Amino acid sequence: MSQKPYSSQDIETAKSKFNRDHVYDTDGNDFFSRFSPAYIVSNENLKREVMLTQNAKNVLTVAGSGDQALYYKMAGAKNVDTFDISFCAHALQDIKTTAIGKLKHTEYFVLLENLYLTGNAPKIPIMSKILPLLPKDTLDFLSDMRDCYIFRRGINPLYLPWLRFRPTRNEYKKMRLCVPPYFNFIWSNVLDLHTQLYDKYDVINLSNIFSYMEQEEKVQTIESLGPYLNIGGHIVLCDVFHNPVPELENFRVHKRLMHLSWYKEIMTLQKIK
Ligand SMILES: C[S@@+](CC[C@H](N)C(=O)[O-])C[C@H]1O[C@@H](n2cnc3c(N)ncnc32)[C@H](O)[C@@H]1O
Repeated sequence: MSQKPYSSQDIETAKSKFNRDHVYDTDGNDFFSRFSPAYIVSNENLKREVMLTQNAKNVLTVAGSGDQALYYKMAGAKNVDTFDISFCAHALQDIKTTAIGKLKHTEYFVLLENLYLTGNAPKIPIMSKILPLLPKDTLDFLSDMRDCYIFRRGINPLYLPWLRFRPTRNEYKKMRLCVPPYFNFIWSNVLDLHTQLYDKYDVINLSNIFSYMEQEEKVQTIESLGPYLNIGGHIVLCDVFHNPVPELENFRVHKRLMHLSWYKEIMTLQKIK
């Protein structure tokens, strides 16, 4: 029998961080932690983000909302691996890849809206179409965390300005053809990620993670991941508030500004080799 990747004590601790209404209610060091809720949809313009490195074949990306990996696949990446500090991101990613294979375009967004609004994913009616296909670790996790709002972060999928950024019907069809049943997931803090890598990548996407880290940790992270880039590879940083690493002056930096709802987003692309 396969072991769960966490203990019952882990689950008890994780659940204690959800308040009486089962909503995640913590900040400071726990804001992003091993079981912090996942962003139901990305707040980034991923169509544009993936085009910045359009020939990338082997990609490592933060799992986040799960959308990053989907867009890299759609842009032609052969292999996409994912990582995240939170196991909720892994569960959401599995739900999305499974749902894309099974649900119609409109049903997919009904599912996302419901995942955002409820704390009990297996009880959402439309989930009955995909539950039998979910990997066991994700099914176990949904059951262990029942009643907690583990997918309630970020923008509500019905938020109007976001609708412009969601996959069109044609993009959804394309996703169906290229998205695998699940993405390889590394459960890790980005600071320790290098200790779990064996491959080299054309792109390592650390989107929005640096907004919440100390300067020293940012430099340490970039240095530790450098050896896992192919020659000419890129680390992609994106920050909704400011330039994530102004002190890394040795790197070539392209800044791009755009507006996504009220966010001012700065994209920095750094050539490491
Ligand atoms: C910072 S959030 C922002 C949401 C993002 N803009 C998106 O589109 O999904 C992205 C993801 O980074 C993860 N994360 C935050 N700090 C991390 C860390 N130190 N190591 C690994 N993942 C981290 C969070 O769990 C979350 O899933």
